[in-house]
Amino acid sequence: MQNYQTQQSTVLEILDAHRTMPGSLLPILHGIQDTLGYIPPAAVADIASSLNLSQAEVHGVISFYHYFRDTPPGKHTVRICRAESCQSMNSKALENHAKQVLGIDYHETTADQTFSLEPVYCLGNCACSPSITIDDQVFGRVTPDKFDSLLAKFKGA
Ligand code: FES
Repeated sequence: MQNYQTQQSTVLEILDAHRTMPGSLLPILHGIQDTLGYIPPAAVADIASSLNLSQAEVHGVISFYHYFRDTPPGKHTVRICRAESCQSMNSKALENHAKQVLGIDYHETTADQTFSLEPVYCLGNCACSPSITIDDQVFGRVTPDKFDSLLAKFKGA
C-alpha cells in the first residue's frame, strides 16, 4: 500500500482545483479515486479541513456510496451485473460462483491483490445476460466455466 505522503500532493492538487466550486465534495472524491484508485483514509482529514466539514461528515459520504473504496483496488476489477435482465438469466448463481472462486465478497480484493469484486447495475449488454466487466472489457453470456477461463486469462495478464 502506498504511503500517504507520496499521495498527499495529488490530493492537495485536487482539493485546490475544486476550492471555489460549491458542492464539491463528490467531485473531489471522484477525482481522488480516479487518480489514486481509492480514497486513502488519511486523505479524509485534508478533505474535511479544505471543505470546512468534520471528518465524520466526509467519512459518512465515502461509506454511503459503495462506489468509493478506501483500500487500493486489485490489479483487475471484476464487476458483475445485478440488474433485472441478468438476474433473470441466473446471475445470482454466477455471483455465488465468483465469490467462491475468488474467496471474497463484493467490495473486497483477493489476498494476492489480483482481483477486486464489485456489483454493477446494468452494463447495457442485457441481450447477452448475464454480463460482467473485467477492467474496461464487457463479457456476455458468462457461465461459471467462462468466468473461470476469463479469470485465468486476466490473472496471467
Ligand atoms: S441487466 Fe445486466 S447488462 Fe443490463
